[in-house]
Amino acid sequence: MRVQVAIIGSGPAGLLLGQLLHLAGIDAVIIEQRSRDYVLGRIRAGVLEQGTVEMLDRAGVGARLHREGLIHEGFDILFGGARHRVDLSGLTGGKKVVVYGQTEVTKDLLDARAASGAKTVFEAGEVSLHGLDATHPKVRYLKEGREHQVECDFIAGCDGFHGISRRSVPQSAMQTYERVYPFGWLGVLSDTRPVSDELIYVSHERGFALCSMRSPTRSRCYVQCSLAEDLEQWPDERFWGELRSRLDPKTAEALVSGPSIEKSIAPLRSFVAEPMRFGRLFLAGDAAHIVPPTGAKGLNLAASDVHYLSGALIDYYASASSAALDGYSARALRRVWQAERFSWWMTDLLHRFPEHGPFGEKVHAAELEFLVGSRAAMSALAESYVGLPY
Ligand code: APR
Ligand code: PHB
Repeated sequence: MRVQVAIIGSGPAGLLLGQLLHLAGIDAVIIEQRSRDYVLGRIRAGVLEQGTVEMLDRAGVGARLHREGLIHEGFDILFGGARHRVDLSGLTGGKKVVVYGQTEVTKDLLDARAASGAKTVFEAGEVSLHGLDATHPKVRYLKEGREHQVECDFIAGCDGFHGISRRSVPQSAMQTYERVYPFGWLGVLSDTRPVSDELIYVSHERGFALCSMRSPTRSRCYVQCSLAEDLEQWPDERFWGELRSRLDPKTAEALVSGPSIEKSIAPLRSFVAEPMRFGRLFLAGDAAHIVPPTGAKGLNLAASDVHYLSGALIDYYASASSAALDGYSARALRRVWQAERFSWWMTDLLHRFPEHGPFGEKVHAAELEFLVGSRAAMSALAESYVGLPY
């Protein structure tokens, strides 16, 4: 097979890139190691910045999102027994975020891709990349017992943190930066009414908690937990009890619990690989960077990478100039590091760190008080939360 662009991975990054290239008349194939159902079954965060919504609109997949997505103009921070509202819209000149699950974004993109007739290979085994610094790199994979080869002009590595793309780059050509946090998030999805119309981020002496949602009838809640926790030890009642113990009495009383339909523990990590390019391979999304989920920047960063990368590829085919492609990594990384900073800061602000000690606890309490008492500090938080400009 010969295509212009081979996209590795059909997560949000690969699918969104595929759709934008398709609309621009660029021939691309998506090569995914899992099945379509597996890709659709993954549960992830669900807060979309306005820029991400605009990207999805441009890709022609915004209709259901506008119908079913929940517009949020603020959220609460709960500490010391009181809830404090962050008025996102009031602090940012009217900006908003949309709560719409990543699973739904993925479904809309997969449906659009199927309707467009563009090529997608699911269940591709042993995907490998070759000749990344040659003019025509190649992707090989196994499917139904046979080896296949795709020759292309460029490879877009959109295969997530554990993918093959970043690992195909010689170590000496890429620098990585990493921070692993000493705790995880235990998350539960349940068909229960969310405790509040807006998200509640909780800083409590027992640890962080988050009351989020997927719809007016579906809750998504998390509690900070130790990485050594065993899911078996967390029956639903224990989860809801732990969450309740981190809320103020009024909110705890309003919390409706119910059977979980998904339960998992996720580790928290900050990670960046630089540059996001090697020869004719360009990385986008989780393949190049990870943020801890506090602030929900993961999917939004994948979207901004794709904004820059799709623009650069379209430019290349329209003008035969590689200037935009040459600038891709530096442009994307500027925004990536802003989101890394914000996600690290919000994680640090709201979680209990075993190593912080009594002095650290006091400084954190002072920072929370300062934040909710200062319009300037609240504006800085709101500005990053709704998403920095592209
Ligand atoms: N070959 C082909 N496909 C692969 C390979 C491989 N070797 N390794 C992984 N993949 C696929 C995965 O199965 C997955 O479908 O690449 C896809 C990567 O998707 P995501 O992990 O969702 O990454 P990305 O598209 O960058 O989306 C970023 O996802 O993890 C969240 O918080 C993150 O919201 C952010 C978003
Ligand atoms: C979620 O709904 O899963 C979610 C929302 C906000 C976050 C993280 C996760 O900051």
